[in-house]
Amino acid sequence: SGKFTYDPGFTSTASCQSAITYIDGGEGVLLHRGYPIDQLAEHSTFMEVAYLLLHGDLPKKNELDKFSKTITYHTMVHEQLVHFFRGFRRDAHPMSVMCGVVGALSAFYHDSTDITDPTQRLIASHRLIAKMPTIAAMAHKYSLGQPFLYPQNDLSYTGNFLRMTFGVPAEPYEVNPVIERAMDRIFILHADHEQNASTSTVRLAGSSGANPFACIAAGIACLWGPAHGGANEAALNMLREIGDVKNIKTYVERAKDKNDPFRLMGFGHRVYKNYDPRAKVMQQTAEEVLKELNLTDPVLDVARELEHIALNDDYFVEKKLYPNVDFYSGIILNAIGFPTEMFTALFALARTTGWVAQWNEMISDPEQKIGRPRQLYVGATQRDYVPMDER
Ligand code: CMC
Repeated sequence: SGKFTYDPGFTSTASCQSAITYIDGGEGVLLHRGYPIDQLAEHSTFMEVAYLLLHGDLPKKNELDKFSKTITYHTMVHEQLVHFFRGFRRDAHPMSVMCGVVGALSAFYHDSTDITDPTQRLIASHRLIAKMPTIAAMAHKYSLGQPFLYPQNDLSYTGNFLRMTFGVPAEPYEVNPVIERAMDRIFILHADHEQNASTSTVRLAGSSGANPFACIAAGIACLWGPAHGGANEAALNMLREIGDVKNIKTYVERAKDKNDPFRLMGFGHRVYKNYDPRAKVMQQTAEEVLKELNLTDPVLDVARELEHIALNDDYFVEKKLYPNVDFYSGIILNAIGFPTEMFTALFALARTTGWVAQWNEMISDPEQKIGRPRQLYVGATQRDYVPMDER
């Protein structure tokens, strides 16, 4: 009963009001709390952006110091959590591990269940932002069979993450400032993106009043798919498969073929019908990192040339398909030393700030209601049960 607007994939439905992130897809503009993403990527730090997303304004120095200290305070995870890791196969995908372990945090923080208390909500948000690097690094270490490293709180948020991921107890770990800056920038570029699928999932899960750690686990599950966060892994795998500039044309033709399910990964976006501003920064960062590390990667040449060919091809021009955030990120992450399986886990780590900011905004919105989409029913009309021997 009732008439509803049918909008598969929510292409024209605003599910909420939000003051966090603004996107003008036609112009390729992305603003967080009014600040352009390229300015944040250039001048800011991930900690500062996390504060901005959560609190609405850039922090003053003492506010940022206090915020960083608070995050640092929460970086450790309960020792019992180690047993959750041990329950997984060593070859488990890090996103499956993240999904399970972050969901399991809900069992450790029963105080966070009172989501009506803004202080408890903030503590849960700080815990999530603080523990994601620890959990992501543990997922990586577990896959290698190396010991877990405890957080080291005199390092930056990102420096600490790099040490927990790439350090070993037997040797001191020197954080390379170039890599640290590049990693921090990648986190900034992934921090929030308004009502994308995973953020909408977190909001929908949270709208019932569910435990925030469980809601973030739901966001991680959604992010995993190759049409969303999983595209960074898929994009590098695709670039490697193309392998050489001379093979690009074949893949471009495949992407255009309606009978072939193949798509150019890291290309196209629901909202951007112009160059994704994050992809621009990502490309520059890729060039910088490879230069600084004195590395050459034939995959970067393939990516550049693929972009060039696609952007001059009628199919991509007409459909307004441009490189997105996932197109160049894999090249940087690979140069830093991450296996492809970790890429989407890094996206989840960074997007956690956006997820918790959006979750807080939703809970404190006086118009907030449980999310409950309707449907257009297209099934059978009422009919009587037919006994088995009469079917
Ligand atoms: N390669 C070839 N054709 C494409 C591509 C692509 N990457 N993306 C879209 N198209 C075509 C598609 O076939 C369709 O053609 P037609 O209108 O003739 O049927 C048209 O463009 C519109 O595509 P759509 O799937 O209806 O658009 P959407 O808004 O539902 O999908 C998307 C957006 C991002 C899922 C899609 O562009 C895609 O699958 N891209 C590849 C995966 C990817 O890079 N995802 C990361 C997105 S950005 C970061 C994130 O969200 O995590």
